[in-house]
Formats: sequence, C-alpha cells, structure tokens
Amino acid sequence: MKRFSEIPLEQIFSKSDAPATYRCPICKDQGVLFDGEIAYPCRCAKEAHLTARKERAGITPRLLKQTFDRFDLSFYSDESRGANKLTFRDNAAETRKAARRFVDDVIDGKEPCGLMFQGAVGSGKTFLAAAIANALIEAGVDVDFTVVPDFLDRLRESFGDDSEESESDLMNEVKHVPVLILDDLGAHNYTDWSIKTIFAILNYRVNYEKPTIVTTNLERRDIEELLGSRIYSRLMEACRFFRLENTKDIRMEKRIREIRKG
Ligand SMILES: Nc1ncnc2c1ncn2[C@@H]1O[C@H](COP(=O)(O)OP(=O)(O)OP(=O)(O)O)[C@@H](O)[C@H]1O
Ligand SMILES: [Mg+2]
Ligand SMILES: [Zn+2]
Repeated sequence: MKRFSEIPLEQIFSKSDAPATYRCPICKDQGVLFDGEIAYPCRCAKEAHLTARKERAGITPRLLKQTFDRFDLSFYSDESRGANKLTFRDNAAETRKAARRFVDDVIDGKEPCGLMFQGAVGSGKTFLAAAIANALIEAGVDVDFTVVPDFLDRLRESFGDDSEESESDLMNEVKHVPVLILDDLGAHNYTDWSIKTIFAILNYRVNYEKPTIVTTNLERRDIEELLGSRIYSRLMEACRFFRLENTKDIRMEKRIREIRKG
C-alpha cells in the first residue's frame, strides 16, 4: 500500500476541493475572523483600509513604498561641503531627522512649523515628503499629497460645466486639511491665476496655523522672482528651509545599482 505522502496531490484532492490560493490565508479573504460569536477585522482588512486612505490622500502606489525606514543614506556622498564641513550624507540625515520630528510633533498635537525641501532633481525631496505623508496617515492624521502642477490642472478643468469636481471643493480640501504637502512647487506655469491660487492656499494655511510641507527645485531667489515676494514671505513664515543635496541624481544612481545587481 502506498504511503499518503507518495500519492500525487491531484489524486488526493478532487477538482472541487483542491487547496484554494488565498491572498490572505489567515481569513481566507473574508476580511473578518471569529472568536466564538465575536467577529473582528483581519490584519489584511486593516491594511486594505489604510491603503485606501493613502490613495484618497493622493499617495500613488510608488509613493506608498517611500517610507522613513527605506530612506537610504548610502545614496548620499560622504564628501564634505560648505564651511561647517557637513557631508552630503550628514545633511540628508539632518533633513530626515527634521521630517521625523515633524511627524512626531503633529501626532503629539504640537502644531509644528512646516518644512520646505529644496534641491536638485533626484535628491530625495519627494521621497521625504511621501515618508511624512505615509507615517502621518498610519497614525490616523489626514494629509493631502498635492502635486502642484496637477492640482492647478484639475482646478482649471473644474471650471467646465460638465466637470465632476467643483473648484470650491478642491480649494477647500487643500486649505483645510490638517497637513498639506505641496510637491513640485514651481514646476507649473507662472500665470497671474496660478500665482493667485497658490497665494490663496498658503495665506489661508498661515493664518489658520496649519502646517504645509513643500518640495521645490527652485532656489530662494527664484521663488521670490518667479512666484513673487508675497508667496516667498509666506513660505519663509510657514516653513523651515532644508536643502537636500548630493553629488549625483539618486534616480540615475538607483537604476545603475539595479543594473549592476542584474
Ligand atoms: N534617500 C533615498 N533612498 C532611497 N531612494 C531614494 C532616496 N532619495 C531618492 N530616492 C529615489 O530616487 C528617485 C528620485 O527621488 P525623488 O522623487 O524623491 O527626487 P526629487 O528630489 O523629488 O526629484 P525632482 O526634483 O525631480 O522631483 C526615486 O525613485 C526615489 O525612490
Ligand atoms: Mg520630486
Ligand atoms: Zn485576512
């Protein structure tokens, strides 16, 4: 007689009772578990709920992965820079520390000052802003991750009669949300309308002491020249400025590392 382990699996299971593959083997994709009569949500349901909240906040699947623990300091050069001899890596570590502190302060209800991340293309600005957004949403804080050029396009489209979104809803959301992230400030057209719109958002948030995180490629003098002194002045009041710098574009560097790994 054959031992059970020697019998091919197809003969043990008929088609109907073949072992099903579940995305969550714990709850067999039911989303709930039972302890006697009491039902409680499975971990997978909590994770799905959290991901849905992040998506609603504007966090794309790529940004979901950009968390503090994945912010890799080894991408930053250990060359020194400036008079204080801080290396690019030390500087990135300081900026990450400020970002973490911001998250802790918001969670502790301290109403911290916002942050501005300046720096060249591929220096990790959006990554850190996304890490802040992910951490805050996980702690139950409402955040809006707003890519400025995309937001201005949506707002412009909302003027049309057949638009699904209303201008006031879009503006109210970014004005009132507890923490607003403005990604890529300056990567848009500098029309009177776009400047007025950005001013209205920042002015409201400064007056109501709501923190804003900003990322930009612009230098300080460019912000003042291109967006005007009224926006520049509000940003100076609302944000602590940090420069994320490196000798190389991390976007390229990451790709090179991946190719080398094979
Ligand atoms: N510290 C880091 N650790 C790991 N990956 C990083 C880090 N910084 C940046 N990256 C990766 O490099 C790429 C570019 O980063 P990011 O989008 O943050 O750049 P950026 O400074 O916002 O650039 P841009 O000015 O073009 O918007 C992304 O794929 C990101 O995941
Ligand atoms: Mg960016
Ligand atoms: Zn489950």
